[in-house]
Amino acid sequence: MKIGFIGYGSMAEALASKWVAKHSLFIGGRNIEKAENLAKKLGKDVEFGSEKEAATFGEIVVLATRHEAVFEAIDAAGGSDALTDKVLLDINNPVDTSDFLAKSYDGLSLSEAIAKVVPHAHVVKAFNMCQASVWQMNPPVFDDRPLVVMYCGDNEQAKQQIAVLIEDVGCEAKDIGDLKYARMLEPAAAIVIKLLFSGHDPLTVLNLIQPEIKAI
Ligand SMILES: NC(=O)c1ccc[n+]([C@@H]2O[C@H](COP(=O)([O-])OP(=O)(O)OC[C@H]3O[C@@H](n4cnc5c(N)ncnc54)[C@H](OP(=O)(O)O)[C@@H]3O)[C@@H](O)[C@H]2O)c1
Repeated sequence: MKIGFIGYGSMAEALASKWVAKHSLFIGGRNIEKAENLAKKLGKDVEFGSEKEAATFGEIVVLATRHEAVFEAIDAAGGSDALTDKVLLDINNPVDTSDFLAKSYDGLSLSEAIAKVVPHAHVVKAFNMCQASVWQMNPPVFDDRPLVVMYCGDNEQAKQQIAVLIEDVGCEAKDIGDLKYARMLEPAAAIVIKLLFSGHDPLTVLNLIQPEIKAI
């Protein structure tokens, strides 16, 4: 897959380092030098440039800026027209660390608020539930069980592509439904963030433990 990142921080680095072996990557952002630094760190075939170039490059576009900058980053990428038909991977946690509550966008999640701004893109929420260092584990396994990564979105094909990317980081993909369920994933991540800020180990996770589902 062709994956364009908007942002070159910890999450972009963690996920890109897992995907670089199998996919074509482009690191984009507002500071080309920082984008170049991450691209070079990842490998010689990784391209870099502006937000707009990342959006043009990617069939999957990862929104990997600070959550407060997501809408600015979408504008910089060329807005709704530039993102038409793209799969937009929303990894962001709109969590205010003064009270550790997830922000609401008139009753909607951040993912749904993004989908309103880019109605012809396919927004999928995933990878928001764990600290960046978890995504760098090789693979993310806890007590011999792979980490379960819950994801949601309204477009089946887009979700299937993200499920492949989840498996590529060594995790088990669990579809929890339409994009509206991001209203659950964002506050769930807020619980983890609150624990981390109170001193829990960065590898602290909420994992879905289930026996294998058997047909009755
Ligand atoms: N870190 C985690 O453990 C973790 C885990 C799960 C989800 N998340 C979510 O993932 C997202 C990225 O987190 P991160 O830890 O990777 O962040 P980070 O390391 O702090 O990097 C932030 C990125 O956002 C860019 N940025 C900030 N303000 C911007 C603006 N106004 N316009 C364009 N770009 C801007 C930064 O570029 P400059 O350097 O040029 O400012 C940088 O590329 C966040 O929404 C966070 O909630 C993080």
